[in-house]
Amino acid sequence: MTYNFDEAPVRENSNCLKWDKREEVFGRADVIPMWIADMDFSTPPFIIEALRERLNHEILGYSYRPDAYFNSFIRWASEMYEWEIRREWIEFSPGVVPALNMCTLAYTSPGDEIIIQPPVYPPFYGAVNDHGRKLVFNPLLETDKGWIMDFEGLRRAITSRSRMLILSNPHNPVGRAWTREELNQLAEICHKKGIIILSDEIHSDLTLPGIKHEPMASLSDRAASVTVTCMAPSKTFNLAGLSTSSVIISDPELMEKYRHTLVGLHMHLGNIFGNIASEAAYTHGRAWLAELMYYVEGNVDLVMNFCHDRLPQIRPVRPEATYMIWLDCRAMGLNGTELNRFFVEQAGVGMNEGFRFGPGGEGFLRMNLACPRATVKKALEQIETAIKTAG
Ligand SMILES: Cc1ncc(COP(=O)(O)O)c(C=O)c1O
Repeated sequence: MTYNFDEAPVRENSNCLKWDKREEVFGRADVIPMWIADMDFSTPPFIIEALRERLNHEILGYSYRPDAYFNSFIRWASEMYEWEIRREWIEFSPGVVPALNMCTLAYTSPGDEIIIQPPVYPPFYGAVNDHGRKLVFNPLLETDKGWIMDFEGLRRAITSRSRMLILSNPHNPVGRAWTREELNQLAEICHKKGIIILSDEIHSDLTLPGIKHEPMASLSDRAASVTVTCMAPSKTFNLAGLSTSSVIISDPELMEKYRHTLVGLHMHLGNIFGNIASEAAYTHGRAWLAELMYYVEGNVDLVMNFCHDRLPQIRPVRPEATYMIWLDCRAMGLNGTELNRFFVEQAGVGMNEGFRFGPGGEGFLRMNLACPRATVKKALEQIETAIKTAG
C-alpha cells in the first residue's frame, strides 16, 4: 500500500460539518462522528499539489473548464465504466443535489409526479416537494438475497402524471450497485412510459473490490435517450467542499432544457479550484482509489465480523458500493428516535437515523466507514459496552 489510511488528520476546528457540528446535531460534542458522507482521510496528495500549484498564480478571477478537464473525465468514464461519452454531453453543476433540483425545474411542472425508491438519500424528497411536485414512492423490497427494486410496484405506481424517476445508483443507503439486468428492466419501463430517469451516480467510483458500476445511460441507446446522469469526484476524493459535479445528457432536447435552467440561475461557471481538483482526480486517481476501496472493504469486514460474533442484535447489510454500511437494528426493539438516542447517549456514536431515509428505513442506522480502522473498532466496542450495560 502506498497510502496510509490508518492515519487521518485532526478535523476539529476546521469548520468541518462532520466534526465541528456534533454538539448541534447530536447534543454531544464527543460522539464518534460516523454520519454525513465525507471521509476522514486526507484528500489525495496529487490533488492538493495541483491546487497549490494554481495558487502560485495570484489572480483568482473568472475561469472556464479547459479541454484537459473534459478529456480527463471522458477518459475516466471510459476506463472505469467502459462508458464512451462525448464532450457535448457534459455540463456543470455546483453539486449533485443542486442538479437534482434543477432537473425537477427543467423537466417537470407543478403537480407532476416524480417517483423515488425509498429508503433513499433524504434530499431526493426536497428536490420534489420543495418545488410543488408530487412525490410517489416505489419502495425497495427487502429480500433474503438483499434489497431489490420492485418492478411490478413501479408499473402500478406510474400514472399519466408521472414525469421522472430519481434513481440512486449505487444506492444510498442500502449499498446496492444495481446490475445491468436490473437497470435494463428499469430503463425499459421508463422508456415505454416516457419517464425521465434522473440517475444520481455520485457513488459510482466507490464500488467494493470485484464489483463494477454500471452507468444507466451506458446500457443502450434507449436507456441513454431518457437518462440524465449526475457524477462527481466529491465523494470519491473527499472534495465536497469544492462544489463541483457533472451532469451528462446525450439527448439534445434534455440537454437544452437542463442548460437553460443552469444558465438561467447563473450557476454554470463553477469555480477554479473545483475544476483543477477534478482534473487532477480524474487524471491521477486510479491507484489511490483502488487502495481506498481495499481499505474500506477491511472496515466493512470488521463490522460484519464484529456484529456476527459480538453484536447479534445488529445485522449489517454488506454494501456492494459506497463507504457507508446500513445497520439493521430492528431486533433492539427501539423506535427511530429512541434508537439514535441510545447510540448517541449510551454508546457515544453519531450515525444517520434510518427513518430519515423514508419508508423501509425505520429501525436502521447508516454508519460511515470512511475513517481509520481504529475508529471503527472503537465505535463497535463502545456500542458493545452500551448494549451490555443496558442488559
Ligand atoms: C446519493 C447522493 N447524492 C448526492 C449527494 C450530495 O451531493 P452534492 O454534495 O454534490 O450536492 C450525496 C451525499 O451524501 C449522496 O449520497
